[in-house]
Amino acid sequence: MLSTELSDRDFRRFSDLVYKRCGINLHEGKKELVRARLGKRLRETGFKDFNAYYKFLTQKDNGHELVKMLDAISTNLTSFFREEKHFDFLNQVVFPSYVAGRNGKRLQRLRFWSAGCSSGEEPYSLAISLLEYFGDSPGFDIKILGTDISTKVLAQAKGGVYPAARLERMPSSVVRKYFQRGYGRQEGYFRVKLSVRAMVEFRRLNLIEPFPFKEAFNLILCRNVMIYFDKSTQQTLANKFYDALTEEGYLFIGHSETLTGINHQFKYIRPSVYQKP
Ligand SMILES: C[S@@+](CC[C@H](N)C(=O)[O-])C[C@H]1O[C@@H](n2cnc3c(N)ncnc32)[C@H](O)[C@@H]1O
Repeated sequence: MLSTELSDRDFRRFSDLVYKRCGINLHEGKKELVRARLGKRLRETGFKDFNAYYKFLTQKDNGHELVKMLDAISTNLTSFFREEKHFDFLNQVVFPSYVAGRNGKRLQRLRFWSAGCSSGEEPYSLAISLLEYFGDSPGFDIKILGTDISTKVLAQAKGGVYPAARLERMPSSVVRKYFQRGYGRQEGYFRVKLSVRAMVEFRRLNLIEPFPFKEAFNLILCRNVMIYFDKSTQQTLANKFYDALTEEGYLFIGHSETLTGINHQFKYIRPSVYQKP
């Protein structure tokens, strides 16, 4: 018989494992969330209780289930053009600075990273903003990388298919220009057009592991991700982001987040916007 009883000991063991493997800090108040989300995973896998599931997870060679467990535990809430002040700042300050360039030279090769991109709404919103601003202006070489730890949300992101309700807050002119309406079995869904999808590459990446990048980014968005980490993980990550940026590159974090209280070298620009000097 299946039991989804989560003892304090089980909870501590799972929260330690999650912290160790992806930096997410599950404090005592998250016990019910863990029970509900992992309980669903128990039912799907057929383990009889959390103890048996934990044992399986921590055995060598069971990394595939560990990925599923982290998928189940992570919070993936997101939306198109979430926290629109960042998009205003892009249009008013960041994009014009690329055109103005540095030392009289236009910045042409532009690299962006949505770190913790969830189901893709964030990098696609950025791609649409770039297309709206730069239009078809020749000479810009633009690429966006979207990464997340969850394989489930990455699959949705790659597909680029969203229920109509998720597009409701976007002007209909933008929807018409950048999304294809589904018909038949796809009725009620929209797909991001190929011109937008082609700008974004999605990859699985665990932010607490070393970054594999050879090229620096002009802008990193890591919004509503660090909130799940404790201070020391946030500090390490902020410094890794600093190293991964170009000179004058920007870091955007969520509006409810701050780098106050951690050691970093960024220049504070405005709430949730930091720049590498
Ligand atoms: C709340 S969503 C934020 C999505 C988007 N950035 C936004 O603001 O709308 C947080 C995302 O961070 C991802 N995440 C959590 N821990 C992570 C880690 N260690 N490495 C990579 N991604 C992680 C989760 O899977 C989730 O998709």
